[in-house]
Amino acid sequence: RESVLGVARILQHEPVSGCGRSYESGRYRTIWLKDPDVVQIIDQRHLPHEFVIEDVRSLDEMSIVIKDMHVRGAGLIGCAAAYGMYLSLRELSKTSSAKEVRERLEHASQQLRATRPTAVNLRVGVEKVAKAVESVLEPNGGSLEAALGAARKEAARITDEDADFCRRIGEAGADLLQQLYERKKASASTPEDKLTINVLTHCNAGWLAFADWGSALSPVYAAFDKGLPIHVWVDETRPRNQGASLTAWELAKHGVRHTVIADNAGGHLMRTGLVDVVITGADRVSSCGDACNKIGTYLKALAAKDNNLPFYVALPSSTIDWRLKDGADIPIEQRGDEEVKYAEGLCEDGKRRKVLLTPANSSAGNWAFDVTPSRLVTGLLTERGLSEASEKGLAALFSEADRT
Ligand code: MRU
Repeated sequence: RESVLGVARILQHEPVSGCGRSYESGRYRTIWLKDPDVVQIIDQRHLPHEFVIEDVRSLDEMSIVIKDMHVRGAGLIGCAAAYGMYLSLRELSKTSSAKEVRERLEHASQQLRATRPTAVNLRVGVEKVAKAVESVLEPNGGSLEAALGAARKEAARITDEDADFCRRIGEAGADLLQQLYERKKASASTPEDKLTINVLTHCNAGWLAFADWGSALSPVYAAFDKGLPIHVWVDETRPRNQGASLTAWELAKHGVRHTVIADNAGGHLMRTGLVDVVITGADRVSSCGDACNKIGTYLKALAAKDNNLPFYVALPSSTIDWRLKDGADIPIEQRGDEEVKYAEGLCEDGKRRKVLLTPANSSAGNWAFDVTPSRLVTGLLTERGLSEASEKGLAALFSEADRT
């Protein structure tokens, strides 16, 4: 395969060893540095039908990759933006001054931040790399080499931290699922071999949305790996169908039983006793615990509340916006109407196509996220464990010094 950005098929690619997900011949994270000039990503637009690795070599390419959602998910776009900052410095000439390095980073920061406005991880990733570089630049000097070294190290650190936080969310969440299982076992008349924990999730907050593991799906993987019987209701998540294409793909690869459902089915399933717990991810959580996530999440939270079901939001602390109290102030991305008007998928002839769903002239609205107020959230599942969705709850887990 060829594309403007230089796409390589998986079998021509050297996988990262020692970390990440197993997939066919190797283990993968969603992003990694292949060599000093090339960042590689899994181009998620092709899943679930093709596994494609893409080379990213410049700030402009990384901006396209984020904006057009070759990579997506709060954690992953934070890592991608951090690597975008690094790539922007590689485009400078070797004799660049400290001033030129600073100007370049400022330009890169603005460009990357303009790609997608909602997930706070992106802003945090950009700011952290800028800070790391600043610490090696002297007031009037400092070499480009030192700046590049600092940017590269910080982007890799952010990526490793993202994977580590998500792994820990899985451990904490698996305990929760185990407790739900024990409770169900104690009260249900169902025979033990038919006892299953039914999780409902929205969008994709699995390993594809982060460097590795995921947030909402990490507890599912951890519980499944411990032998807990688990089944996941996967909201298809119109308009981009991250649930149907990405969550279902991940779960299938891991061997987790799952059923894809239309976005509007969740309420009915909750009412009829087919859901034990709802777990979603988040793109930005306010310091008071309001959770912004993929459009439609709010409706699931309302249905969970009405049915007395636990509604957990799983997130690494890099998704908390400590500068913002009220979720209503979170900027909500609006995307093109073609995502709503068209559906895209694999046709019977094996070709991928878009089909028009609406009258050609109808207009469509495409709000990508919504905010679930903290009062509807049973708890926030973080790398430090479960927190009440409130300022007090978060403050008990994260001191001032921990907040970025
Ligand atoms: O638009 P996306 O695909 O980047 O949206 C992100 C999401 O997948 C969801 O909102 C997710 O639940 C939170 S990101 C971990």
